[in-house]
Amino acid sequence: MSITANWSYPTAIKFGAGRISELADHCTAVGMKKPLLVTDRGLAPMAITQNALDIMEAAGLGRAIFAEVDPNPNDKNLEAGVKAFRDGGHDGVVAFGGGSGLDLGKAVAFMAGQTRPVWDFEDIGDWWTRANSDGIAPIVAVPTTAGTGSEVGRASVITNSETHTKKVIFHPKFLPSVTICDPELTVGMPRVITAGTGMDAFAHCLEAYCSPFYHPMSQGIALEGMRLVKEFLPRAYRDGTDIEARANMMSAAAMGAVAFQKGLGAIHSLSHPVGAIYNTHHGMTNAVVMPPVLRFNRPAIEGRIAAAAAYLGMAGGFDGFYDYVLQLRSELGVPDKLSALGVGTDRIDEMSEMAIVDPTAGGNPVELTLEAAKRLFAECI
Ligand SMILES: [Fe+2]
Repeated sequence: MSITANWSYPTAIKFGAGRISELADHCTAVGMKKPLLVTDRGLAPMAITQNALDIMEAAGLGRAIFAEVDPNPNDKNLEAGVKAFRDGGHDGVVAFGGGSGLDLGKAVAFMAGQTRPVWDFEDIGDWWTRANSDGIAPIVAVPTTAGTGSEVGRASVITNSETHTKKVIFHPKFLPSVTICDPELTVGMPRVITAGTGMDAFAHCLEAYCSPFYHPMSQGIALEGMRLVKEFLPRAYRDGTDIEARANMMSAAAMGAVAFQKGLGAIHSLSHPVGAIYNTHHGMTNAVVMPPVLRFNRPAIEGRIAAAAAYLGMAGGFDGFYDYVLQLRSELGVPDKLSALGVGTDRIDEMSEMAIVDPTAGGNPVELTLEAAKRLFAECI
């Protein structure tokens, strides 16, 4: 079976090894004549990025790049990106990279047409309707990791550099017009990033699956996403050149992001403040806090997790699933505690205040109170 396909759910997805070669065609098809490729500093000099610029240039689209993007992209990165977009007279964005490049690229395309500050478009109520929708530039997304799923999402996470809080900025037009999922782009990912991003995909599926909201479509996608991670993440981690494993992890990542329209939960509520304050890797942070959150949620999710365990071929119901998570973590070299990521106990109160107002907290199956958040942080650190 060849793992190459064109999907139109939730957007046009061009899936398969080598399909980055179609980049210029897809840019042109959505009306770009002078795209700006947005990625992070680390990726900018790498061969996969230079190759993408070569493809754009060979088609007469230029080779403009903006790469002043931090691992947790912030409003200053965004402002600089929008300036580069406007100064360069660009008409579209190639959002290229892991979560940072994708999220910032999407936000640049969005903000290029806005006059209000970005925080006016936080994912609250119908705030997105404040946007000038016609001014939003088209986006072609090219993920180079398999975790965030931002390539199929309608939001970006931007850190407020003054308050050190992560804000979700939402608009339906954040959804890229075309996404190219080329697993060959993920082959060079260091093992630690394969592990961290893969665990982010798993956390998306797990939290969406456990969220109490009614969304049976997402529920099904989340379950199969977890199965793909179980089968293919250890393989991709052991052998980064295993294209079948890389491809299936790319699917799992996209599925996780589609599924979490149903909601996320306390794994992300705890992880966001940690990332905003300590600049830790998002997926790795999720992986560390996952077992304590599972224990905390157990009363509400026991039956549901037992059903997932059965589907995933695990014996022992909730306990079997829990043991599997511990085993997966150790197989992938995930540390047991947040202290190993440089997180101290001195800011637990502050992080707990942030966690309970995080937009993901409302999707947790057990109410995340301030006391509970403090207790969970103490356990995790
Ligand atoms: Fe995430």
